[in-house]
This record gives sequence, structure tokens and C-alpha cells, in this order.
Amino acid sequence: MKYVMGIDLGTSGVKAILVDESGKVCCEASKPYRLIQEKPGYCEQHPEDWVNQTMAVMKELMAKQPVHSRQVEGISFSGQMHGLVLLNESREVLRPAILWNDTRTTAQCAHITKKLGDRLQKITKNQALEGFTLPKLLWVKEHEPHIDQQIDMFLLPKDYVRFRLTGAVHMDYSDAAGTLLLNIGEQTWSEEICQAFDISPHICPPLVTSEAEVGTLLPHIARDVGMKDGAKVFAGGADNACGAIGAGILSSDRTLCSIGTSGVILSYEEDHERELQGNLHLFHHAKKDAFYTMGVTLSAGYSLNWAKHLLAPEESFQSLLEGAAHVAPGAKGLLFTPYLVGERTPHADSIIRGSLIGLDSRHERAHVVRAVLEGITFSLNESIALFRQAGKNIDSIVSIGGGARSRTWLQMQADIFQAEVIQLDNEQGPALGAAMLAAVGCGWYPSLEVCANQLIHQAAVYEPEQQHAEVYADLFHLYQRIYTQTRDIHAGLKQYRSI
Ligand code: XUL
Repeated sequence: MKYVMGIDLGTSGVKAILVDESGKVCCEASKPYRLIQEKPGYCEQHPEDWVNQTMAVMKELMAKQPVHSRQVEGISFSGQMHGLVLLNESREVLRPAILWNDTRTTAQCAHITKKLGDRLQKITKNQALEGFTLPKLLWVKEHEPHIDQQIDMFLLPKDYVRFRLTGAVHMDYSDAAGTLLLNIGEQTWSEEICQAFDISPHICPPLVTSEAEVGTLLPHIARDVGMKDGAKVFAGGADNACGAIGAGILSSDRTLCSIGTSGVILSYEEDHERELQGNLHLFHHAKKDAFYTMGVTLSAGYSLNWAKHLLAPEESFQSLLEGAAHVAPGAKGLLFTPYLVGERTPHADSIIRGSLIGLDSRHERAHVVRAVLEGITFSLNESIALFRQAGKNIDSIVSIGGGARSRTWLQMQADIFQAEVIQLDNEQGPALGAAMLAAVGCGWYPSLEVCANQLIHQAAVYEPEQQHAEVYADLFHLYQRIYTQTRDIHAGLKQYRSI
């Protein structure tokens, strides 16, 4: 039996799976790493932690499975998007990586928007948002000139890990699209943008497709993790693109709701022509010549983690969610906005913070948990509303990640999104998409579509319950008012955040 390995470099940790030639997921392993939050709005990680923990999960998988080390034929990657990894000439890391949910770059975003005007949208198909990579590069230029002078190359998180495992530097289009330096139409680094901000095009890595074979494991790495050194390595893609592949989002009638640390609503696009509003993004898919549009809630699973940590650190997520299942929609008049680190879609705002509105002495922990789940889902529904305004028909959504692990949350998604919500069998998130890219790369399947038919199966469909959907439609309008009505208050509170 032969195997492929899919590795997903997430924000809270790395997960790897082994898939055999019959398409069965044989085993999985994951390991956490630290988030460094030195100041409000800052979010960094040490690339060395990614490398160590990735090697640890690879080792664990090889130890778990009675697989002869030669049998892993291909490996591919999925990774958290946008994070800036800076390397010097000797390929050493110059500073901790600045992550996608770091919002320190508001001034740089304003500068980019002012300088490029309409050209930014024309070239990159996106607006300047704090999470993207170019504003982070400009921040380093401005605030850390001693680091800037030493930059020889920038990479994104999974590209750095892949470099350490293979010795080769590359970036795939699905991740490059999130840098704000890619000309999406021409599929090249934009000379115009590099020139406008005095960035040497030489620091941009070679571009490849997600399915491209980019090398093999370095012999000492293969030995260390217990694998054959000839295992082929394929480029892989952005975590949202890989999550979409792993959920079968491979045609334009397919929409995804993925809840990890962030939450995204993602919809497949045949081309890059769609006009977008409200800070929706348009990126390359990890399927060749395809695209997707996407809205992002910065703190989705992160909000639930935060609530659990605060209210019930010793309890399991399952029992926390069971408690919330007994609370009626609306959490007895409690609304939560998940803006714990600011927001991306529809309000690109690094200053806004979360709210719990309507607290009453009769509220118990279960009401707060229910309100947090509802608030995260309302936030995602704002992206769905934008898609519908742009003319997309969204009546069926595949749900993956944290939101797909609870019947209560799945039903809540159906009721709030007013669409059927599909749960998958043995869902593995972006790691499966990465494994599928390796399986197609190894020639096991002629296309991702054929691979998806073989590997992805529907487990259950949740239909909206009319009565709940009506309550949620009303609450959603109230939820949407919180942003505009609390914005000034949060601006006033900003100065107290670092005290
Ligand atoms: C997408 C985004 C997040 C990260 C999470 O634009 O910033 O979804 O990819 O890993």
C-alpha cells in the first residue's frame, strides 16, 4: 500500500494526516505552538516552532502507522495565509513571523490605498487590508530599517516550512494572491507595485501551481522523521484553498463555511471578474486556473476558545456546547460581536473590539456560550449577505472545522444562513486538501474532481427550521447595528488597552 501525507500549518498548531491509495484517511496527528501577542493588535509566531512541530507530527504519524518508510510517496502542504517570514542571504529568519490576524498595519494600508488608487484593485483584485503581506513588509521598512536592509527573500508560513524540509524556495499562486504583490490576471509578481513601494522584485520567491512537484525531502529530514528520502513534495496551497479542495468546492455552485481560528465563507469562481464589495477577497484557488471569493471573520474559533478559557478552562468543548444547546435562539436577549482582534469582513477595522450586549442577572454561562456561537455565525452571515448582494446564489453550504463538530452549531448555521448546511463524513479540513494535491500530483487520480468523488462523502444535511430562522433574521438586524453604534466607544477605549 502507498500513502500520501497532507500537512496543515494552522495558527494554533500543525496537523498531518496519512491517506492510503484507496482514499482512506489512516491516521492523524497534531501539535500546538505559541502565539506571541506583545502589544494589542500584534500577533507573531516563531517559524522555528512551526518546523519543530511539523517534524514532530511527521514522526508521530510514521510511528503510529505500521508503514514501511518507503511507502509515503508524496507530501503536500496547506498553511495559514499572509504571514510574513523574512530571510537573509543565508536563508536565516530575520524576525518572528507577523501573522494574518496581526492588525498593526492600518497606516501602511492607508498609504497603499492612497498611492495606488484604482490600480491596486485592478492588479491584485483586492483592497489593502491589515492582514495581507505587503502592508507588513512596509511596516518593517518603516519601523525596523535594520531588518529591512537584510531582507533577501520573503516567504509565507507553509513555504518556509517546505523550504526547511526540501531546501527549495517556492510560493504557490493561492498563497501569493494574499500578499497584495501578485498581478492576479497575469500570474506574475507585480513590478508596478514593487516599484511603487521600493521593494526589490528579487525578494519575491519563484511562483508555482499548488500541484507542482517542487522537490524531495532532504535526506537528513527524511531520516529524522523516519521516511524514505525520495518522497515527492508538492507545493500545496493556502489553508482556505486547501480547505475548499478537501470539502469538494470545485465548481461555481459550491460554497464553504470553514471555522478554524478565523472563520471564512468561500465561494468558487471560474474567473477573476466578479466585482466585490465590503472587503470580500478574491484569490487564486489551489485548483489550477480557478479562483474563489471569500469573506473573513478574524476571531471565529478563536472567540469560542477565548470564552472557554475564561468560563470553563477545565471543561471539554463538547460539554460546553451541550449546555448551549438547551438555550433558545437569542440567548435570552444576549448578543456578542466577535471582534476580539478587530475585524476583516465586512468591516475592515483594527480598532473595533468585541461586545456582549444585553447582559441580564438571569444569564448563566450557557447563555454566554450560546451568544458567542451566534455572534460568530452572524458575523459569517454578513459575508453571505455580501455574496448574495453580488448576485451569488447561496442555498447550500458545506461546513468544515469547529462549526461542523456540533449538531447545535450546524443547525444554527442553517437557521442563520437560511441555506442547507452539509456536514461531511470524517472531515479533515485543509490537511485533506493538501493530501489530495499530493495524491493527484503522484498520479493516483487524473484530477482533483475525480479525487474528491472518491474521498469526500456527505454525512448529514441540516435544513433551516422556519421558526428559528425568523428569530435569527430579526436578531441579525440588531447584530448588524452593533458595529456602527459601538465604533466610537471602542475608539475611545483604545488608549486604555495597553495599560
Ligand atoms: C484568510 C485569512 C485566514 C487565515 C487563517 O485571508 O487571513 O483565514 O488564512 O489561517
